[in-house]
Amino acid sequence: TPRVFSGIQPSGGLTLGNYLGAIKRFVEKQAEPIEQVYCVVDMHAITVWQDPEALRRQTRELTAGYLAAGIDPTRSILFNQSQVKEHAELGWIFNCVARMGWMQRMTQWKDKAGKNTQNASLGLLAYPSLMAADILVYHATEVPVGEDQKQHVELTRDIATKFNHDYGVDFFPIPEPRIEGAATRVMSLRDGSKKMSKSDPSDASRINMTDDADTIAKKIRKAKTDPEALPSEAKGLEDRPEARNLVNIYAGLAEMSVDQVLAEAGGKQFSEFKPMLSELAVAKLSPISNEMSRLMQDPAEIDRILGQGADRAREIAAPILTKTKEIVGMVG
Ligand code: TYM
Repeated sequence: TPRVFSGIQPSGGLTLGNYLGAIKRFVEKQAEPIEQVYCVVDMHAITVWQDPEALRRQTRELTAGYLAAGIDPTRSILFNQSQVKEHAELGWIFNCVARMGWMQRMTQWKDKAGKNTQNASLGLLAYPSLMAADILVYHATEVPVGEDQKQHVELTRDIATKFNHDYGVDFFPIPEPRIEGAATRVMSLRDGSKKMSKSDPSDASRINMTDDADTIAKKIRKAKTDPEALPSEAKGLEDRPEARNLVNIYAGLAEMSVDQVLAEAGGKQFSEFKPMLSELAVAKLSPISNEMSRLMQDPAEIDRILGQGADRAREIAAPILTKTKEIVGMVG
């Protein structure tokens, strides 16, 4: 049976990048009659230091974000990674299948570890192997992600292929990354060559899902642009990364293609387009952030939803792990 898996790290607040590149697409996916599993990957978050209280709060806040955006926990399985120990167990087995060289080639490892790799956690290096376990412990075949996770999903394919080959089995499916829509790579509002990220030191570089209307409007007003008017076709945005980014964000939020946006906005100056974008962003995001704050007032209810999701997740993962251990030759 086809199955969808994806995850988000609770390592900071949710950004507009996470929303357009991931959560919004999960919500759209949910309309399809396929089993779907969505995870708060807290074990991935601790590959870099997380204050324990902050991790707890961010885990609940991300769960609230999933729910507020429209993930229905009775339809999709919504849970946090550390409650389903099968992820860690399969992750260890994959650590023994994957090669050091594969891990060291990952661009996210190179970016996050920086120059002083000797001081990075061992978990940060092994990160993609745990991600492969997240996906494959459900035999998931589809992985909706933003552009920046493509390389990790490809590594998951390599791990599945090598496992099947080494043990002479046809056990793990080879999952497909699903990178779709107008906003698969939302860029920083301050620098069109950098991705919008929760870890960027400048808060003005991103829109947080918890930003209020005034903050959103201010960040968009101050977003870096060029002095030209908008072109009337997508081709005209090729060498204009900041302009392209704002148009992509508009398209993602409005559920339009870039060409459709430019058919309306082509010829307009940013002094006119930016207020249009602010208005749209506030209209789409404030209901979500209001619902997030409402949900956050009842953390016990959030924990209950995560616990139920974990029980359902384990039902799928446990037999797949048992079978994996049998293939590997583990007794018990
Ligand atoms: P994370 O937590 O960095 O991001 C979560 C999701 O949001 C997408 N995303 C973006 N999309 C468009 N533009 C952006 N600026 C942007 N920033 C983030 C990411 O591509 C991702 O889809 N390793 C993963 C988490 C993970 C996972 C998994 C994902 C762990 N296990 C298994 C899929 C399947 C990560 O760090 O995502």
